[in-house]
Amino acid sequence: MTAARITVNGKEAPIAPAAPHTTVLDFLRERGLTGTKEGCAEGECGACSVLVARPGVNKPTDWVPVNACLVPVAALDGQEVVTSEGLATVEAPGTAPVLHPVQEEMAVRGGSQCGYCTPGFVCSMAGEYYRPDRCAAADCGAGAGAGAGEGAEAGDAEHGPNGFDLHALSGNLCRCTGYRPIRDAAFAVGAPADEDPLARRRDQAPPAPVATDYRQDDRAFVRRNTLAETLRLLRERPDAVVVAGSTDWGVEVNIRSRRADCVVAVDRLPELRDLRVESDHIEIGAALTLTEIERRLDGTVPLLAELFPQFASRLIRNGATLGGNLGTGSPIGDSPPVLLALEASLVLADADGERVVPLAEYFTGYRQSVRRPGELIRAVRLPLPLSPVTAFHKIAKRRFDDISSVAVAFALDVEGGTVRKARIGLGGVAATPVRALATEAALEGRPWTAETAGAAAEVLRGEGTPMSDHRASAGYRSAMLGQSLLKLYAQTTEAVPS
Ligand SMILES: Cc1cc2nc3c(=O)[nH]c(=O)nc-3n(C[C@H](O)[C@H](O)[C@H](O)COP(=O)(O)OP(=O)(O)OC[C@H]3O[C@@H](n4cnc5c(N)ncnc54)[C@H](O)[C@@H]3O)c2cc1C
Ligand code: FES
Ligand code: FES
Repeated sequence: MTAARITVNGKEAPIAPAAPHTTVLDFLRERGLTGTKEGCAEGECGACSVLVARPGVNKPTDWVPVNACLVPVAALDGQEVVTSEGLATVEAPGTAPVLHPVQEEMAVRGGSQCGYCTPGFVCSMAGEYYRPDRCAAADCGAGAGAGAGEGAEAGDAEHGPNGFDLHALSGNLCRCTGYRPIRDAAFAVGAPADEDPLARRRDQAPPAPVATDYRQDDRAFVRRNTLAETLRLLRERPDAVVVAGSTDWGVEVNIRSRRADCVVAVDRLPELRDLRVESDHIEIGAALTLTEIERRLDGTVPLLAELFPQFASRLIRNGATLGGNLGTGSPIGDSPPVLLALEASLVLADADGERVVPLAEYFTGYRQSVRRPGELIRAVRLPLPLSPVTAFHKIAKRRFDDISSVAVAFALDVEGGTVRKARIGLGGVAATPVRALATEAALEGRPWTAETAGAAAEVLRGEGTPMSDHRASAGYRSAMLGQSLLKLYAQTTEAVPS
């Protein structure tokens, strides 16, 4: 095992003497790369966004923007990072840097005032700029610059005529410029030039994950190459904290000052990163990021396709995994209601082998589950065929990038106007995510009519044991459950013959 190293803007640097919990953000800033900013240190503002070379969906490498404030630098041992400083090119020593096309558009369109948020915006923007399928079927113009995309008819409020998806910026906050000039800049970038080094880099494989054993002051950050080695390590160290995307663990470290003697990374284990569609089920690796799952499934599981845009921001989804969302056991995680409605099972693995546990039997109490010490979630299995009538309703204070007050997922089979099967997953109304069993029974075998929906909505209002807290009152949560079923009925009756 060689000493831990990271490549930043093309230059390799040792990770030592950073502590194992040191974030990429702090590491960069301590090295003088102060373009990367700290706004919140909890994944909310995007001022710390940087690009990481990751396995691509349509090309060997994708440039993936992540929140540098959440990721331990030791997790990027052997990896390549580009910061806002690395986007601009210096053509000759002593000359002014030539701005990257996204930086140029931000400058000329007034997308930056105080500038605090700008490096984060340009990194998120650059990630979208280099998304290989962005320019397909869009007017990308012949290179960046004023006029590219202007006046084109294509696009909508959330997508530029150049294929730019504004949701790429959903994790970036600006408090002083206002978002219109930033959107103008995003919608004006063209296609990367052929000689663009970061565009060309996408055609080569990203750095492979490397085994890491990084220790400082009796604390360790460890990565093994295989699942078997990782499970043996977890058996030896049952106290170890497992991390994948670190979007939950990073907040614990920064805001609650939690430290672990041993952190074990599982995000690059090949056995946790497979996505397979079999004849009777789909298996999704627990360490695939939500962005990877979203792009690889490409809408084939409509309920998941509805979940992803409502789950945090693109920056968070670029790191967050299903294993992490289920691993925390949080009653307000957004994937459990959806996975309950899809009748998912979890493949749990430890050093002795694997077992398959229905998700409905996985949670045992507040942040508790049947998962044993040393056991990992290897994959999530969804049985096929999928129920055709589905919806995910997330009730939160903000439309995007917020934690659920209540989340409800529906999956119904309606045949000949009758509900043959109903599966409903709920979040935020009990100590664990739960199935709405009484409501399911009130729907099954009944005609899919306003009367049935109204009666079942009454039952749904009584499911769970909702509490009042800073997000919502118990009464509001109950009311939202009932409304959610009425909304489903209103949304689906046109499509479903009654
Ligand atoms: C700004 C922000 C917004 C967010 N918004 C949402 C949201 O809208 N909806 C939502 O549900 N969540 C949200 N989250 C929470 C978080 O992003 C998710 O829970 C995410 O899925 C965690 O995945 P991760 O890989 O980053 O987990 P990590 O932080 O890496 O891990 C969390 C914990 O899960 C466990 N774990 C991880 N992988 C495994 C595995 N394979 N097997 C067993 N245990 C494992 C470990 O115990 C670990 O400590 C948000 C977080 C932030 C910071
Ligand atoms: S500093 Fe705000 S998201 Fe990282
Ligand atoms: S330019 Fe000041 S916060 Fe965005």
